[in-house]
Amino acid sequence: MEKELSQKKRIATLTLDDGRQIELPIISGTLGPDVIDIHELGKVGLFTYDPAFFSTASCTSEITFIDGDAGLLYYRGYPIEQLAEKSDFLEVCYLLLNGQMPNAEQKSEFEHKMKSHSMVHDQLARFLNGFRRDAHPMAVMVGVVGALSAFYHDSLDINNPEHRDLAAMRLLGKVPTIAAMAYKYHNGYPFMYPANKFSYVENFLYMMFATPAEDYVPNPVLVRALERIFILHADHEQNASTSTVRLAGSSGANPFACVASGIAALWGPAHGGANEAALNMLEEIGDVSRVAEYVQGVKDKKYRLMGFGHRVYKNMDPRAAVMRETCHEVLKEQGLENDKLFKLAIELEKIALNDPYFIERRLYPNVDFYSGIVLRAIGIPTNMFTVIFAVARSIGWISQWKEMMSATDRKISRPRQLYVGAKRRDYPPLDER
Ligand code: ACO
Repeated sequence: MEKELSQKKRIATLTLDDGRQIELPIISGTLGPDVIDIHELGKVGLFTYDPAFFSTASCTSEITFIDGDAGLLYYRGYPIEQLAEKSDFLEVCYLLLNGQMPNAEQKSEFEHKMKSHSMVHDQLARFLNGFRRDAHPMAVMVGVVGALSAFYHDSLDINNPEHRDLAAMRLLGKVPTIAAMAYKYHNGYPFMYPANKFSYVENFLYMMFATPAEDYVPNPVLVRALERIFILHADHEQNASTSTVRLAGSSGANPFACVASGIAALWGPAHGGANEAALNMLEEIGDVSRVAEYVQGVKDKKYRLMGFGHRVYKNMDPRAAVMRETCHEVLKEQGLENDKLFKLAIELEKIALNDPYFIERRLYPNVDFYSGIVLRAIGIPTNMFTVIFAVARSIGWISQWKEMMSATDRKISRPRQLYVGAKRRDYPPLDER
């Protein structure tokens, strides 16, 4: 039952089966559903039960807004489609981190600052040398980004706003360098130092694909495509990896260690690993003639359609629409208009979107359905797909971490549980078990 007290204060009343009534404040944000503030329920000996957080807002945030029913995504109020079309990744980074668009001077200062942090400590390369060459690059990312926490003792006071900003710039500058190193190491190629004459995305492609023996000229169509991928993946409110970063950070842990925990969470196929899984799935299907049979297998619950479905979007993921368009541009540029996997993806999407199984469950393509095809056309190997996601999402993680750390009422995050284990029992002697 909801009672209107005044324009500002509203309450929901919870009636228990023992007759008790508990009044809970209702809070409204600037956009999106209201929330019922239950944080004092514990004081009357009750917890709410919401495994996997289907209905739980874990924090307040000013960074990203999603309306999953309408298929909307805003960064700091700006629609993702506008940012993907008109902005560039570093501008989006500034926006996420600082809350507003930079003016020309702020933009160039931010770019300059970020570039001054693009190199990594020479000692860090030794961490890479400790990995097997065939290690998954996400395993390398978890280890090496976490290892950054051992390097920057001069900026470890997480209660100092300047140190927090410095940690953010260091992360933003160094993550692409580490990602490219993971790729080079895996293939036995020499590392390429960052080249500050390039833009952020050009420099990443340069560190990935240039060799010391040849000049490297970035292709503007591919740069724009990767720029879009970075923008689309930069933040996505309280998803699994971001919540992991916040949870780790809530204890006051080192920011690079927190981001490493986010990278670990991102790796799973239900989250950031989906673009790799989606491309593997397309390869496994192999031919348009097998799509119907594959979809039947999905409906029989033998496997999931990777790149489809989303916890929040119950409509087209707005990022997927941008990605599909980018896919056309990149394939054309690379002379791959007749790409078999792209044709297969389009056919699969068409069949799924018209099938009652997907319609009833409101399953639509997510950003990862097409991003794998774009990344592959750019020349990025499948096992680097989630790494690209991690490079792009680092700004979201660190912005969310910074927002949390800047709050005056910060508390360690500590969920409770519904205990369903054994009741109290006495320790049995070994010969009685
Ligand atoms: N293929 C087939 N069926 C699906 C799919 C799918 N991709 N996703 C959900 N379903 C079905 C489930 O089987 C379930 O059916 P049921 O009601 O008959 O049991 C129903 O839809 C609801 O599914 P849940 O698993 O409860 O939904 P949830 O919100 O927990 O899962 C998730 C979201 C993990 C993204 C899921 O849709 C999925 O596994 N998708 C494939 C992986 C993927 O693409 N992940 C990327 C997410 S986007 C990102 O991280 C950038």
